[in-house]
Amino acid sequence: MSDDAARTRVPSDIRRRAARISGESLDERDRLIQALVARVSELEATCHETEERVRERTEIVANLSHELRTPLSSILGFLQLILEGSVEDPAEQRMFLTRAHASGRRLLEMIGHVLDVTKLDSGMMEIELEDVSLDDVFDEVMTLEMPLAQLKKVSLSEIRPRGLTVRGDAGRLKQVLINLVGNAVKFTPEKGHVAMKATARPDHVVIEVVDDGIGIAKERQTAIFERFVQAEGATTGRKFGGSGLGLFISRQLVKLMGSDLSVTSEIDQGARFFFRLPLVSA
Ligand SMILES: Nc1ncnc2c1ncn2[C@@H]1O[C@H](COP(=O)(O)OP(=O)(O)O)[C@@H](O)[C@H]1O
Ligand SMILES: [Mg+2]
Repeated sequence: MSDDAARTRVPSDIRRRAARISGESLDERDRLIQALVARVSELEATCHETEERVRERTEIVANLSHELRTPLSSILGFLQLILEGSVEDPAEQRMFLTRAHASGRRLLEMIGHVLDVTKLDSGMMEIELEDVSLDDVFDEVMTLEMPLAQLKKVSLSEIRPRGLTVRGDAGRLKQVLINLVGNAVKFTPEKGHVAMKATARPDHVVIEVVDDGIGIAKERQTAIFERFVQAEGATTGRKFGGSGLGLFISRQLVKLMGSDLSVTSEIDQGARFFFRLPLVSA
């Protein structure tokens, strides 16, 4: 049945019942009917939206379950090889364990992303603005991301004066930088460069993550911030792995800190993701 047909069928039904049960004047009856018709349309719209959301969620859960299996299978695979004793060389054992560890991190990241989206959607994401030392945050991000960069043979560096303090949420800022640096390393081929920068301006600090990797086409630079949008095409998406939620979450977190996350990029020319935070002291 078309939407129009549904709309006309319900009101005429209501109209007949209203005529039977009410002794009111025709005018009032018409008003009642109009109000009911408006309400029915509203409910139909809500119902339609809910159906869309349920469909979207089902698709998301199906995709995610698939994506979660990949890192889990590789963890189990690497551990199995070591347990069986098929890898005797300690260096090779270490390499397998490093890979299992990297897959474990990916798995944890994906689960974290799903929890964060749920929090953002329900308005339960809590942001605490405080004075944040960029030294601490940058040091932690460097320590966390370095093994992955080394594994991919991508150089990771930081460019900034020491001693900058900004206004933000330390934990969430770290999370945003981990997402951005993680992406930069992921989408930069071997021998490429990734840099995490902070530049002090009179009243704010520009924080950026720059790489010289594969870049992003102009026409995709808006879409990548939407949920579940990933590298073009299913095979590329799978090759790089991930949830397609990182940039969506990062932008929301930066917004909750009162700023906005932007990108400039060109295909094969690398990418630059940047935002600003209020400067407290330099
Ligand atoms: N530094 C980057 N260089 C090239 N493409 C990027 C970069 N960062 C993000 N992208 C593109 O944006 C998409 C969405 O990123 P994100 O939301 O973090 O999801 P995921 O990392 O799970 O794919 C990526 O799949 C990729 O296509
Ligand atoms: Mg990502």
